Amino acid sequence: MRSLLSLVALSLSLFAAAEPTISPYALHEKRIVLPQGWSYGRKHAAGSALPLRFALTQQNIEEMEKYVMDVSHPHSPNYGKHWSVKDVLEKFSPNRETVKTVHDWLTENGIEKERIRLSPNKGWIEVDATIEEAEALLQTEYSVYSHVSGKEHVGCSEYHLPSHVKRHVDFVTPTVHFDARLTSRSSETTPQTQPQSVIPKSFRGGPKSAGKYAESIVPTDLSTCYEYITPDCLRALYSLNYTPVATADNTYGIVEYTPEAYLQTDLDMFATNFSTDLYGVAPYMVSIDGGYAQTEYQNFSYNGESDLDLEYGMTLVGSEQTVTLYQAGDMVEGASFNNFLDAIDGTYCTFEGGNNYTQDAYYPDPYGGGYEGPQDCGTAKPTNVISTSYAYNEADLTEFYAARQCAEYAKLGLMGVTVLYSSGDYGVAGNDALCLFPNGTQSVNGTLFNPTFPSTCPYVTSVGATMMKPNATVYQYQPEMACEEVIYSGGGFSNYFAMPSYQAEAVEYYLKTYPPDVPSYMYNTSGSRAYPDISANGANYVVAIDGEFELVYGTSCASPVNGAIFTMINDARLAAGKSTIGFINPTIYTTNFAALFNDITLGDNPGCGTDGFNATPGWDPVTGLGTLNFTKLVAAWLELS
Ligand SMILES: *[C@@H]1O[C@H](CO)[C@@H](O)[C@H](O)[C@H]1NC(C)=O
Ligand SMILES: *[C@@H]1O[C@H](CO)[C@@H](O)[C@H](O)[C@H]1NC(C)=O
Ligand SMILES: *[C@@H]1O[C@H](CO)[C@@H](O)[C@H](O)[C@H]1NC(C)=O
Ligand SMILES: *[C@@H]1O[C@H](CO)[C@@H](O)[C@H](O)[C@H]1NC(C)=O
Ligand SMILES: *[C@@H]1O[C@H](CO)[C@@H](O)[C@H](O)[C@H]1NC(C)=O
Ligand SMILES: *[C@@H]1O[C@H](CO)[C@@H](O)[C@H](O)[C@H]1NC(C)=O
Ligand SMILES: *[C@@H]1O[C@H](CO)[C@@H](O)[C@H](O)[C@H]1NC(C)=O
Ligand SMILES: *[C@@H]1O[C@H](CO)[C@@H](O)[C@H](O)[C@H]1NC(C)=O
Repeated sequence: MRSLLSLVALSLSLFAAAEPTISPYALHEKRIVLPQGWSYGRKHAAGSALPLRFALTQQNIEEMEKYVMDVSHPHSPNYGKHWSVKDVLEKFSPNRETVKTVHDWLTENGIEKERIRLSPNKGWIEVDATIEEAEALLQTEYSVYSHVSGKEHVGCSEYHLPSHVKRHVDFVTPTVHFDARLTSRSSETTPQTQPQSVIPKSFRGGPKSAGKYAESIVPTDLSTCYEYITPDCLRALYSLNYTPVATADNTYGIVEYTPEAYLQTDLDMFATNFSTDLYGVAPYMVSIDGGYAQTEYQNFSYNGESDLDLEYGMTLVGSEQTVTLYQAGDMVEGASFNNFLDAIDGTYCTFEGGNNYTQDAYYPDPYGGGYEGPQDCGTAKPTNVISTSYAYNEADLTEFYAARQCAEYAKLGLMGVTVLYSSGDYGVAGNDALCLFPNGTQSVNGTLFNPTFPSTCPYVTSVGATMMKPNATVYQYQPEMACEEVIYSGGGFSNYFAMPSYQAEAVEYYLKTYPPDVPSYMYNTSGSRAYPDISANGANYVVAIDGEFELVYGTSCASPVNGAIFTMINDARLAAGKSTIGFINPTIYTTNFAALFNDITLGDNPGCGTDGFNATPGWDPVTGLGTLNFTKLVAAWLELS
């Protein structure tokens, strides 16, 4: 495994030799069960190299909700006054004591200073250790685990830290986490194709991907939107009729994980039929960790997601507005959400902003006090809106790990970025239709709902899926319902994250007024983060894939569509000299804004042997607040400072 962080050598002179600190070891993290598809392989050779990474605890992270609300709540005097990269680094970077404690512990245990590196954002310490050294440091045993796909992963089932070090470390990798390689999880990363039949409500096996869309002519009028979704159908459904004007100051980011990749020939085929001025136009690609739009492997699994996201994302913002494609991971290692986040946070800026860590020293003091952080993020600045249609089940990750990643999304929000994630395609079940057993195991026979991450992170905006009602037209009142064709909209309640204040009123209203018709033991009723927040159509998308038009289904469709609409709202605000909309949840849940959504009140999201939750008036854990009306929302957002 290759390290994906940029790391800075610690200066030798910074730490004087200290007396060894002796403190008893305590359990830090433990994995109860192996994630689906993995099995124990063999003991790892003691001499093998292991890039150990320590996620250092950050300062002020417990105040995160306060900071985020301060710049994101429309009633706050600081609404829209987003933070710079430097502000974020200074506020949250681990303090000197944290860095020193971990550093000293490592040197006291025989790790030479030259081998210890600190990331420029000061969030991580890395050591190239041997298995033997790591086992001694963490009081654990390393093994090689195998996945049914043939991939291997080095890890352990639990690890320990000395008590004086414990409070300075969020977690250590590689240990109990199976975070990398979203690529190996193909069934969760791809939207679904035909058949068009509705999945039985008691389905357990999950939707299937099947035949191609064979009919040749899609009417260009709006009479068949209930059978074939095209960009014009979406423009009509969401009142998106807008030509951007602030395009030079704006960008729309779509994230893809290699080997999933787009084909230019597919984008061109789509453009020929639906957006002729995009013919020959490619997205602006930012390669992360060796990512590139591979063309060696081509089929629905490799091209479906990227082609869908880019064909609709690019068409809906129009040819004047550049779309940025973050292509993450190479063909060998793939990439995880954390790799992506590493790349667009301050660390990345250090490279792209002109600094060179092999040359530029981090003086006067990399560990707090004197260090000012990168001055300007330059070209690596995250885009104003970022849409991602890939997801984990929350239970795939440890709570520490999910919390750390969630804090990164919060930082993006502080910096004015809107982060959208699709809510999942299996209703109240997790990816691959897995449900939870009370002991934490995931199984198709599980008895508890299985929430999706990052949708359960309170600092992302989670997007569910709707569909046109049978035979409905875009002109009629309430033409949409919760998606019940091929996929079901992911939704429910987190087991890791408490309910953020911005949604408390809406969720409590739902639970009180429309008590869910499923046993309460099946979902978390302790007041946890509820999702999705919003939705958009996710059925019957006409998408050019591998030289043919296919029908595609999924929340994978919904997220890039809403991302395009928010990008246009940003355009209007930027043109008016205002800030980007940033983290939108505190705004959209206010009474004023919630009333502007197209409320979805029909349908449900089955899973785990139940009918799931119901779409109801107001917010619900199927379609959130509802779908967007651009005309209404842009007007409301232009009224904010
Ligand atoms: C795309 O346009 C071609 C040429 O006009 C037409 O034959 C084809 O049916 C169209 N496909 C779709 C899906 O609209
Ligand atoms: C969106 O809002 C506008 C302005 O109120 C309204 O005229 C239009 O009918 C709405 N569109 C939809 C699809 O509901
Ligand atoms: C695409 O090809 C890969 C590997 O050849 C295969 O595992 C996968 O099932 C294929 N996907 C589809 C939709 O045919
Ligand atoms: C950093 O500087 C070194 C030494 O001059 C050079 O070899 C390397 O290519 C530079 N790296 C970047 C990212 O500019
Ligand atoms: C968890 O519970 C399920 C259902 O009772 C059982 O089949 C499984 O073996 C348990 N797994 C572990 C690791 O305890
Ligand atoms: C789920 O339950 C069915 C019926 O009891 C059984 O045949 C199947 O093996 C179980 N599947 C798993 C993954 O435990
Ligand atoms: C939709 O329209 C078709 C053709 O008119 C009709 O056969 C079908 O029953 C209608 N479906 C519903 C749900 O109304
Ligand atoms: C329910 O969610 C809360 C977080 O809001 C968490 O602390 C608790 O452990 C969860 N309960 C279960 C059974 O997972």
